[in-house]
Amino acid sequence: MSRKSAEELGLDRAYATEGPEANRELYASWAATYESGFIVDSGYVYHQEVVKVFCDSFSELSGTVLDVGCGTGMIGGELAKLGVSVIDGIDISPEMLAEAAAKTYNGRPVYRQLIEADLTSRTELADSAYAGIVSSGAFTHGILGPETISELLRAASPGARFALGINSAHFEEFAFANWLEQHQSEGRITGLTCELRPMYEGADKADPDQWTQIAVFLAT
Ligand SMILES: C[S@@+](CC[C@H](N)C(=O)[O-])C[C@H]1O[C@@H](n2cnc3c(N)ncnc32)[C@H](O)[C@@H]1O
Repeated sequence: MSRKSAEELGLDRAYATEGPEANRELYASWAATYESGFIVDSGYVYHQEVVKVFCDSFSELSGTVLDVGCGTGMIGGELAKLGVSVIDGIDISPEMLAEAAAKTYNGRPVYRQLIEADLTSRTELADSAYAGIVSSGAFTHGILGPETISELLRAASPGARFALGINSAHFEEFAFANWLEQHQSEGRITGLTCELRPMYEGADKADPDQWTQIAVFLAT
């Protein structure tokens, strides 16, 4: 991580923000400077790590990928570079989505569709719509817990590939491993692995808020 403190990067405030309404407010004020400030100043590599794990874990993909808590579109930009061409994004913040809508690759919009929704509740995502589901930065303190994965499984087609980045402190606090293993033993997911990766260049090994557990699995 850069020499800026978590407070200077805005992370202390973000981690203290709980629930959909407070997050909508936080990201309304953060959207315009999220990339030029936080992403640059922190040495953010989280989106690249998720996309690397997603692409390395599976062979060729056909179908639409959903970027969960897409924000300004960091993951979408990375997927587009690797040739993934049909990407939808979902996020609670219209201001963050407006930034994602402006993202282009080779002169074309990165996202096919951007959906404003609160992922702590049931959404209007269609059943079985997605062949791939990815996320960075949204499964974290005060935002999304394991129950959101049930909603994502509803929207996933059989055999859909998941690579979900989960803040490693949050992963422990909300027992994501138990939730995922339980779902695997009930036959709702398969092929579960978790990979510990850095969120920032030079991440401090002793700080679990600088690391992500990337949960990789298939919907059944
Ligand atoms: C730290 S940002 C991560 C954005 C992007 N994925 C990245 O890696 O830069 C967290 C995102 O989660 C979104 N968010 C917060 N609460 C949410 C909710 N209840 N439902 C959907 N999205 C939410 C925020 O608007 C924000 O864009």
